Amino acid sequence: MFLMKEYLNTNIVDKLNKDDKDRDIKVKQDLIRNLLKEKNAILLAHNYQRGEIQDIADFQGDSLELSIKANKTDASIIVFCGVRFMAESAAIMNPDKIVILPNKNAGCPMVDMITPNDIINLKKDYQGAPVVAYVNTSAECKAVSDICCTSANAVKVVNSLAGEKVIMVPDKNLGSYVQRFTDKEIINWPGYCPPHRRTTPGDIKALKEKYPGAVFVAHPESTPETIDVADHVSSTSGMYRYVKETDAKYFIIGTERGIIYKMERENQGKVFIPANSGLVCPNMKRTHLEDIIESLTGMKNIIEVPEDIRIKARKSIENMLAL
Ligand code: 13P
Ligand code: SF4
Repeated sequence: MFLMKEYLNTNIVDKLNKDDKDRDIKVKQDLIRNLLKEKNAILLAHNYQRGEIQDIADFQGDSLELSIKANKTDASIIVFCGVRFMAESAAIMNPDKIVILPNKNAGCPMVDMITPNDIINLKKDYQGAPVVAYVNTSAECKAVSDICCTSANAVKVVNSLAGEKVIMVPDKNLGSYVQRFTDKEIINWPGYCPPHRRTTPGDIKALKEKYPGAVFVAHPESTPETIDVADHVSSTSGMYRYVKETDAKYFIIGTERGIIYKMERENQGKVFIPANSGLVCPNMKRTHLEDIIESLTGMKNIIEVPEDIRIKARKSIENMLAL
């Protein structure tokens, strides 16, 4: 009897705690929406962001969609909830706007796997081969590249280029994926995304046994072995479209688990299972509502790119957007 009473009390306390937490989130979200309005600011969120940030975004998308949106907005301030290279791309394209990265420590380890000097050396080694820089690169690397790409348009970008050889940096997995769809020879750089690399074909086999009929959706940053067992491969927004259109109950999701938040909301009755428990990008999770409030109130964490770098990097992004 005593145990039952204790159990009920614990549940009531948990419920009260949850109600308090929800109220707290709502207050912060309302404050942010008011701040955005007051300052003529727009909030862009990548598909991996925390649910409470996705809920208040003016626009949510994959890297390509966010670049396009940042390029078109009339707002004076862009609050970019994602990682640094994304906010940096927005700053490169919009010198007359203020771009804020709410948590300045939100980086991407893949970006740090290549330097501009590495690219210059590749160009010397493969004279005449154009350099395609994944948007997951620094402004300095974009500045010494010919064109950018995202996971959504990498195949199209590579196939649009003249010549037989193309240098792709820094993601070797994206490069190997593109190689499947082009006759050009891809010169790859050995960078990679740590969370995506964790999923193995063994994970998928085990999950497919547990959930018969499950469909496996992979991101091009996955290893070639994992891509081999995928039913569908696309950018994060491509995944939203695919799961909506596909008639299956179980979906194994081979990308950062933040994407599952909106999938569940938009697809009642379908079940979304992370392909691997390690599919969490700590950098994408660094941004909290408090960071947005603090940075926007104090106009902190503004992204600045030196003008000479910005002009050159802009060319690479423009070349991509022109496609
Ligand atoms: P998407 O462009 O597909 O959203 O991917 C961005 C990213 O960083 C994946 O890890
Ligand atoms: Fe970088 Fe991977 Fe995180 Fe994307 S998921 S931001 S590539 S570490």
